[in-house]
Amino acid sequence: MNTTNRTALVSALHDELSGVLAVLSGAQRHVVAGREFWVGELHGQPVVAVLSGIGKVAAATTATLLIERFGASRIVFTGVAGGLGPGVRVGDLVLARSLLQHDMDASPLFPRHEVPGYGRARFDTDPALSDALELACLRGLEAVARDLSPATREAFGLHTPQLHQGLIASGDRFVSSQTESLRLQTELPDALAVEMEGAAFAQVCHDWQVPLAVLRTISDRADDTAHVDFPRFLKEVASQYSSAVLNSLMST
Ligand code: ADE
Repeated sequence: MNTTNRTALVSALHDELSGVLAVLSGAQRHVVAGREFWVGELHGQPVVAVLSGIGKVAAATTATLLIERFGASRIVFTGVAGGLGPGVRVGDLVLARSLLQHDMDASPLFPRHEVPGYGRARFDTDPALSDALELACLRGLEAVARDLSPATREAFGLHTPQLHQGLIASGDRFVSSQTESLRLQTELPDALAVEMEGAAFAQVCHDWQVPLAVLRTISDRADDTAHVDFPRFLKEVASQYSSAVLNSLMST
């Protein structure tokens, strides 16, 4: 297997990656640790695509397998997240420049959020890969937003998507109450979005020195209505955004 320059394309859920899986060429399926890894090409570039599963442990196992078994030389994670920062609205995108585990708490032995043994709470994404993903967003997104049906736009109150960049907080909780969302906003005022896998990928990629980029489409505001229409958003919006951006990234 030639693993030089193989890009890993990862999402937590099927609908977040289905557009990419549909257009992989020469895809071969490998099942490892209950996960299906699809090794093939996208726009002539070697890729491995996989669903990480939900949560930080599933994410860490997947990241390790991608690097150790499948020779991933860079990892791009796309999916959905709940918006936390002011002005981060449903339908917007958030590109992580750093990630943190909001549920990491080994205090009073270590400062709140610090990962013991690392001397830090925040793990940066790779600047060059994130810049490339930013460009891919700017190229791919307007067309997708335009092509969404009026019914979809109206259902989710979608507007022209804004791209935000900065901190994403990850934890093993689907945040679906105003109380918890406000607590996170108070604790982490610069966190733009909350999800359940990114910071685990960031820690594993830090261990292996493998470049990582994480892009999330905002599916909800992490409040009491966060679960409403979540599956529909995945199918009708997030899947289109992910495949447009990844196709754009891999075709350059
Ligand atoms: N992914 C999408 N929305 C989320 C939320 N509200 N909390 C955690 N992960 C999410």
